[in-house]
Amino acid sequence: MRRNIVAGNWKMNKTFEEADDLLFSIAEPLQKLDLDTSQVILCPPVLYAEMFTDIALENNFSVGAQNCSNKESGAYTGEISAAMLKSMDIEYCLVGHSERRKYFGEDSKMLAEKVDLLLDNEINPIFCCGEVLEDREANNHFDVVGKQIFEGIFHLNAEELDNVIIAYEPVWAIGTGKTASPAQAQEMHAFIRNLIAKKYNQEVADNMSILYGGSCNAKNAKELFALKDVDGGLIGGASLKAEDFLAIIQSF
Ligand code: 13P
Repeated sequence: MRRNIVAGNWKMNKTFEEADDLLFSIAEPLQKLDLDTSQVILCPPVLYAEMFTDIALENNFSVGAQNCSNKESGAYTGEISAAMLKSMDIEYCLVGHSERRKYFGEDSKMLAEKVDLLLDNEINPIFCCGEVLEDREANNHFDVVGKQIFEGIFHLNAEELDNVIIAYEPVWAIGTGKTASPAQAQEMHAFIRNLIAKKYNQEVADNMSILYGGSCNAKNAKELFALKDVDGGLIGGASLKAEDFLAIIQSF
């Protein structure tokens, strides 16, 4: 179901004590906000999940993981399964973040498997897509993003797809301070929504939450979130500063 969402991806940052501090500096003010029309998802290092899920409900946020295995269970040392996430009350999981694609060689087949396992375990995948700078400069960005979406989630039926959130994160904007312009963001989000309308139907497309990620911060969030096809943000760096993250949450 389409809704306004701000998700914080903490990536590989914060020791346990630092995470505890940051969590409480976000959660306490969050409790007092009127979030009737929007949702907050925190994706900390999964090792700390319990500290988050314990207080999530009374503090107006949900908990997401940053990754899961594409295998169900078994001899896969170091991996964490979708079923394990579910057993820790985790409700969301990022899939196909560009850092996973780039540094851990995750391909579309693996990502589609992860999406399926998450849905089997009633966890909502936040499916990430986005082009690198060379693709944009060569004017290939629509083809690249279209292919990622086609291969990652278009095997789902409409009912399954309803549990997926899409995050468009142009790789050249991640952690660089170079945000996509409102025109670039709106154009790609509309393109993605249109792909869904063509593959499924307009109602399915209108129900999809499509988040923007890539140097989204307290200064530019309002302008980005006001765009017709942008339903919120997936925030990296600015989600590690309570004041900035809280300002982004209030940017709808
Ligand atoms: P930044 O907000 O640091 O650019 O990171 C975006 C991101 O990768 C969120 O998943």
